Order: sequence, then structure tokens, then C-alpha cells
Amino acid sequence: MRDDELMDRAIGLGEQGRRSAPPNPWVGSVVASEGRIVGEGFHARRGEPHAEAIALQAAGDRARGSTVYATLEPCSHHGRTPPCADALIEAGVARVVVAVEDSDPHVHGAGIARLRDAGIDVQVGTGADDAGRSLAPYLHHRRTGGAWCLVKTAMSLDGFTAAADGTSKWITGEEARADAHELRADSQAIVVGSGTALADRPALTVRGVESPPSTPPLRVLLDARGRVPAEGPLFDVELAPTLVVTTEHAPVNVTDAWHAAGAKVETLPSGFDGHGVELQHVLWLLGRLGVLQAMFEGGSTVHAALLDGLFVDHVTAYVAPTFLAGGLAAFGPRGRDSMAPHAARYQFVEARRVGSDLRIDLEQRRGDAA
Ligand SMILES: NC(=O)c1ccc[n+]([C@@H]2O[C@H](COP(=O)([O-])OP(=O)(O)OC[C@H]3O[C@@H](n4cnc5c(N)ncnc54)[C@H](OP(=O)(O)O)[C@@H]3O)[C@@H](O)[C@H]2O)c1
Repeated sequence: MRDDELMDRAIGLGEQGRRSAPPNPWVGSVVASEGRIVGEGFHARRGEPHAEAIALQAAGDRARGSTVYATLEPCSHHGRTPPCADALIEAGVARVVVAVEDSDPHVHGAGIARLRDAGIDVQVGTGADDAGRSLAPYLHHRRTGGAWCLVKTAMSLDGFTAAADGTSKWITGEEARADAHELRADSQAIVVGSGTALADRPALTVRGVESPPSTPPLRVLLDARGRVPAEGPLFDVELAPTLVVTTEHAPVNVTDAWHAAGAKVETLPSGFDGHGVELQHVLWLLGRLGVLQAMFEGGSTVHAALLDGLFVDHVTAYVAPTFLAGGLAAFGPRGRDSMAPHAARYQFVEARRVGSDLRIDLEQRRGDAA
């Protein structure tokens, strides 16, 4: 097997840890000797062995003189487990192929340097596009300290997310809604604005997926003025934990009621124009809480503010073959006289049919990341 095929295999293995490894990275690794796999592994959860250590153990003596494929740069520091770079050196491997460098300041090139210093031939960049896309939330979190921002929306073909009377339930079909639950399962937080919480009374739980995450995603409500009462499924903390992010403008009796319902409450500065909650602080707060991927599920006002602030890393839009001919625009009510600053920052990743709808994925263009 070729280098790129073996790295593909490693990326696929890493994906198996996506719902259990966070806040650690979901790394995959393959040990190959003369082009044949002799060991493989992935990092399943914090505190458990890293992918390379598992793959080396599976390879045993066959690791000597082998090539090891790792989706992320092997670590060089003592954390909860010993450094992978040392394990690779001790195992006597001849060559290490790395897809992407680790953006964690504790590693950031030091793992690769350690291997090279020990005389190991290290090649960086094989499968970098796919591994970088797979690990994007982790790499972003370690680079910026904030959560990676995924915006999910469901809209009519003419770009509306709710009808003029505010109804938006089930614009898209059953398969698209099931697919969106898979996205929830990949996220450590699901975020909505107060408008959506009031209009839809959502539960924001993961339902109907085959492999649920090891911990339910944190449900996050952005309510700067304390408009959302502490009732309904969002405040049933038996279902999943709830965090309300607010500002000093929320009345004390409301914040008391949120606390009494069992929700966590965090007070952050107001948005730059005095409205809402400052979104950069929201992303940093989530990052501090160990959220790598934050999935924003509406509504249109919050999505527009995220776009305006250049915070959106990825968009997943489910487009239904229907026309609302008016209502709430999926990305905010504001029209623009000229091109918005974010207009040219995205590129399509994929478009495919999901049941009767279309799923379109966009990501920030490389080099444009904040
Ligand atoms: N089809 C879909 O996929 C979908 C998904 C979700 C929602 N929806 C529909 O969308 C509608 C709700 O959308 P919406 O635009 O009215 O409300 P929204 O975006 O859910 O909430 C907007 C409110 O969030 C609060 N907020 C807190 N921080 C903010 C910030 N930094 N920027 C902007 N807002 C911030 C503000 O209220 P405070 O200042 O009071 O905090 C703001 O008025 C509903 O009809 C819902 O059914 C559709």
C-alpha cells in the first residue's frame, strides 16, 4: 500500500474516536512494514493510550525498521501518558509519516524535531487536507483557545429559515433531520439564541444516532436580557447539561430561576453594539470548558452576527425543495448595500442529497482562518 492509502486508513481509524476523545484529538495511526499493515490504533479517550502507542503495541517486534503513519504530529511532552515521540524512538521505527503538525503550543513542531534528532526520517504533509479537515475543531481550539464554530441551518431554496408567521418546524425532511443529529453527536456544545429558544422550545439533545457521544453535548442558550423563562425541555437538566450565557442586563429573578432549574449561568460582556452577548467571549468560554466543536443551530439573527464577526468556520446548510417566498432569511434580516466583508471567505466542501433535501457544506478558505 502507498503512503497516501495508509494515511487514509489512519484518518479513518482516528474518526472512530471523534465522539469520545474530546477535548483530546481523535488521532489515528498505522504501523506498516514493507507496505503492509502490522499494527494500528486510535485514541479513544483522555487518559487512555495514544494512537501511536496502541499501534506500536499491536505491531510488537515488527515495529523495528517500520514506517509509522500518524494523522497528527506525535506528542513530545509528558501529559497523562508518556510522549509518543519517545515510544517511536524506543521501538526503533525507521520512518514516520505525519499528516498535520500539532497546533498545541506544548507540541507545535517539537515532536517532529525530537524524532528527527533521533535519526528517524520524518515526512510531514501526506493526507494533510483530509486530516486537517477531520481534526479542524481540535487544531482551531489549540491554536486560538476558542471553540470551532459550525453553523447549521435548514432553509427553503429561496433562503428562508422560517415562514413569515415564525413557523419553521420541519422545513426539511426526516433524513436531513436525522443527519443533523449526527452533527450534534459530533459536537461538544449546541448553541441557540433566545429567539429560537422562545419560538421553538427546543430540547437540543442528540436523538436516534447509532453511536452517541460518551457525554451529551452541553446545551447553550445565548440570552443577553433574560427573556427566556427557566422552563421546557432546555431547562430539564436530566436530559443534558444546560448553560445560559447572559449579560448584566438580565434581571436577577430570571438568573436565579435559571440557577434553580439546575442550569449553569455565565455573565459575559454585551456585544460590541450593546446588543446580545459578545460572541468572541462566548467562543473562548466554550473553549475553556473543553468544547472543541460548537454547533450553532439558530436562529437567523445569531447566525448573521457570527458571519459579521467572521467567526464562522464551517456551514452545513440543509436546503429543502420548497419556496417560502418571504419570512426570516437564514442569515439575518439585514440587507446589504455592498459586499459584506465575509462574502468571499468560504468555499464549498461538498454538496449531496440527503433524502429529499440537499446538504451543502462550506468551510473557511485556507489562510482566512481568524
Ligand atoms: N430552520 C431552521 O434551521 C431554524 C433553526 C433555528 C431557528 N429557526 C427559526 O428562527 C427563528 C428565530 O430566529 P431569530 O433570528 O428570531 O432569533 P435567534 O437568532 O435565535 O435569537 C436572536 C436573539 O439572540 C440573542 N443574542 C444573544 N447574543 C447575541 C448575539 N451576539 N448576536 C445576536 N443575537 C444574540 C438576542 O436577544 P437578547 O439580546 O435578548 O439576548 C437576539 O435577539 C424562529 O422562528 C425559529 O423557528 C429556524
